[in-house]
Amino acid sequence: MNKDIERVLYSVEDIQNAAKRIGNQLAEDYADKTPILLSVLKGAILWSVDVMREMDSYVELDFIDVSSYHGGVESAGEITLRTDLTTDVAGRDIIILEDIVDTGRTLKYMIELLHKRGAASVKVASLLDKKEGRVVDVAVDYVGFDVPKAFVVGYGLDYKELYRNLPYVGILKPKIYSEEDSATLNSQE
Ligand code: PRP
Ligand code: MN
Ligand code: MG
Repeated sequence: MNKDIERVLYSVEDIQNAAKRIGNQLAEDYADKTPILLSVLKGAILWSVDVMREMDSYVELDFIDVSSYHGGVESAGEITLRTDLTTDVAGRDIIILEDIVDTGRTLKYMIELLHKRGAASVKVASLLDKKEGRVVDVAVDYVGFDVPKAFVVGYGLDYKELYRNLPYVGILKPKIYSEEDSATLNSQE
């Protein structure tokens, strides 16, 4: 295990099972459609790959890079669209793939954007749902795990861009982030 990790919350096997469960469910629910899987960079890359390969059905894949500004005061809640998707979503069924939904701001921004562009439907499949962190009213349709309010990294989730490569989700050792950082960073992941 990585030396900066306090303990593993969701193991490789836990995550694999969640991807299988949700991938199979999505394939069934969208059996008569060809949805667009919309992977949210960068955090959702591993989750997107694992969910999509469990779907033995017609799907398209696209990416969007949306970033929430986490530094400073949490209430700022600024969302930046860094890279837009390339598919015309009008009349299409969209499945947003996220690694974590925390305040819900990122998700709300994307749902509104997609509806504005005329998407036929928008659903969300997230590995983690941190319901306690919710600031805006959004719901996750397909949840891997309800995650407690702890600083989690791995499997796409970063701390200062590190740890995304870990194949499991773990809790970061408190000594890795400083005392002064912890108040704002705890709300991040
Ligand atoms: C993280 C995470 C979600 C979002 C959730 O992304 O991957 O996309 O924050 O937070 P929210 O519900 O409070 O909006 P981040 O903006 O850190 O970018 P990243 O995926 O590139 O790490
Ligand atoms: Mn993200
Ligand atoms: Mg991040």
